[in-house]
Parts: sequence; C-alpha cells; structure tokens
Amino acid sequence: MKKLIAALLVGTMVFSLSACGSKETASTDAATEAATDAAEGTEAAGGTLVMATNAEFPPYEYYEGGEVVGIDADIARAIAEDMGMEVKIDDMAFESIIAAVQSGKADFGAAGMTVTEDRLANVNFSETYAEAKQVIIVPEGSEIKTADDLSGKKVGVQLGTTGDILADDIEDGTVERYSKGAEAVQALVQGKIDAVIIDNEPAKVFVSENEGLTTIEDAYEAEQYAIAVAKDNTELLDKINASIANLKESGKLQEIIDKYISAE
Ligand code: ARG
Repeated sequence: MKKLIAALLVGTMVFSLSACGSKETASTDAATEAATDAAEGTEAAGGTLVMATNAEFPPYEYYEGGEVVGIDADIARAIAEDMGMEVKIDDMAFESIIAAVQSGKADFGAAGMTVTEDRLANVNFSETYAEAKQVIIVPEGSEIKTADDLSGKKVGVQLGTTGDILADDIEDGTVERYSKGAEAVQALVQGKIDAVIIDNEPAKVFVSENEGLTTIEDAYEAEQYAIAVAKDNTELLDKINASIANLKESGKLQEIIDKYISAE
C-alpha cells in the first residue's frame, strides 16, 4: 500500500508537470515504466495487492493449469475488486508467509491460515471467513483411533502449520515435517509414517486422491481461518474487514465456498 500511495503521488506530480507543459512526454513515459515495473515486481503497487500464500492446500489454494485457484484466491480477488484493485499471488513456503507480510513483501497472507496467539504477536488478522479443524489421516485399519493413540508414533505434518504444533505435543512421538501436505500424505501411503495431522478440507482431498486412507475427524478443537495483515497497515485491515462483511452479507462468500466444497 505504501507503494500504491507513492505511485499515486508520482501520478499527481506527472499531471502537474504536464499541466505546465514541461517535459510532458518524458515524464509520462517514466511514470508508465515505473507503474509497469511495480506491477511486475513482488511488491504491491499501482492497483495491485500482493497475496502471500502456499498453493499446496486444496481446496483453499492449489494449482490448476498453471494458475493458483481456490477459496482463498477467489476471496482475495473479491476483496480486491471491492477496492478497485487486482491481486497478484505470490506462492511461497507456508512458514514464510508471516515474514512476507511483516516485511511488506506481500500486502496480506491468505492461506487457510489459522488465527493463533503466536501469530497475533507478529501480524493482525482479519475477521474470520472459515472454520476448520485438524484431523488425523491414517491407513484404513490402523490401530490409531484417537489423538491419544498417536503417542509413540511417527506423525507427518506440513512444516510450520497448526498440525505441526499439535504433533509437537504428542508423547514420545516423532514428527516428520514436510514442505507440502501432499508429501506427508505420500509418506503415509508408502508406510514411512503412521499418521498425518492436517486441516479437514485438504484431508478430504488427499484421502479421495489416495486409496486405503481414512480420517479421524474429532481429534482436535475448531480453528478459525483469517487473512494476515501487517501490524502497521490498519487501513488495509479495515478495508479487508469491510469487504469480508460485504461478502458474508451478500452471500458471495458462501457461493465461493460452495464452488470448491460440495456439501455432504
Ligand atoms: N490451518 C493451518 C495453519 O494455519 C494450515 C494452513 C496451511 N496452509 C497452506 N496454504 N499450506 O497452520
């Protein structure tokens, strides 16, 4: 957003220069170039909001034909549209998202990200837009039936997620951390680990894509997903919150969710 303000200021300066009739062409070219550079860069500028995500998390964010799609991508586009802006998606490691938002490399993080106390120390979160929970994926017929049964087991998680935090608390457990949830699921299919702790909706997708897996649903508490914004960017946070309220009210949020998650 800072860049956006800078771009707007540059625009105003160019306008006043051309109004005086001096160096009209040169200034306009320079401004166009600056705007293009900014739009191609990783930072937000000139009508573009950069969304940090980790596109390994269907149905919230994943690749389809080279493009990042999913609930978060659609919500972000709808929010930006409310502000008359566009979204540029920056796909990165999940554990890099908060730092990207804090440093201003991204304007916000939308990644099926759960609101936690620890994260709140580093970023602000928007109003929540979805509820979720961690579930345990196990091979069919596994002796693991509850979270307590994970003690002494090898458990796979996506690095830096709430699943990772929960796995850390398992008594005598071994935690295998993967950069993608799908890699943890592959390790489970190959018998390298005993279980995977991951969010319920991606779990459904991964279980449906792999034979012989099943899910333990009621192992952990509910979590809330929200959009992460830098602590000092309350202006953007307010706009995002207003937009989320609109999306809820208009039914558009539900429409987006229904597009990616079929009701059971
Ligand atoms: N909800 C979990 C968390 O916030 C997992 C999110 C993972 N998201 C992703 N896009 N890979 O830690």
